Amino acid sequence: SNRRPIVAGNWKMNGNLALIKQMEALFSNAELSHVDVVVCPPFPYLGGFNGSAFALGGQTISHFESGAHTGETAASMLQEMNCQYVILGHSERRADNNESNELVAEKVDVALKHGLIPLFCVGEPEDIRESGQLFDYIAAQLDAVISKVGIAAFNDIVIAYEPVWAIGTGKTASPAQAQEVHAFIRQHLAKQESDIAKQCVILYGGSVKGSNAVELFSQPDVDGGLIGGASLNPEDFLSICLAAK
Ligand code: G3H
Repeated sequence: SNRRPIVAGNWKMNGNLALIKQMEALFSNAELSHVDVVVCPPFPYLGGFNGSAFALGGQTISHFESGAHTGETAASMLQEMNCQYVILGHSERRADNNESNELVAEKVDVALKHGLIPLFCVGEPEDIRESGQLFDYIAAQLDAVISKVGIAAFNDIVIAYEPVWAIGTGKTASPAQAQEVHAFIRQHLAKQESDIAKQCVILYGGSVKGSNAVELFSQPDVDGGLIGGASLNPEDFLSICLAAK
């Protein structure tokens, strides 16, 4: 495809200033012109990056623009701190912070209004897959955002498929399982607008490592990865970035 791959590291609530230094040292000498590399650290660390070795992203935003919302971070603030991306709808926030499909859709809308590219996460828990409701579940997650922002907005949205049972478990979806859902997502978008479906970048996330990235990224509808644990290891993260094509 002519879709440009993206590999995004989601540090979650991990990392420190020393890791920023190690990452910048390693990545500033790497040949990565084939891939857009994104790092999404915890908010306090966004100002600690100085190189241009990778793009920056936040891990969430408020659905409010500003105001009396203690502890929240506005889309405009991420933009001012040189973020180009923001992770939205991550399963950990859906679970820990009760983020509904509708709230995620509001956040996607606010992010787009501030020029941030959402890394919009979808994915099923294990019981949903086992009960045969996988595709309905993913479709509902997609439809909430499509109905809020419109299909044309998917020109500026990156989708990440992250099966919940594969996150942080070491239990990666097989390349065939990933491809099956990525193809479904693309077909679902194509029902509305086939050109947008063709160009939309769809990342896989869930226990991606240097050792399985090549096989996952070689699937026709897998355009890169959203990496948790392995993004905290600079060498492993680099090998994943090098595997994107
Ligand atoms: O956002 C990243 C994902 O949740 C994947 O995490 O690579 O640690 O399984 P993981």
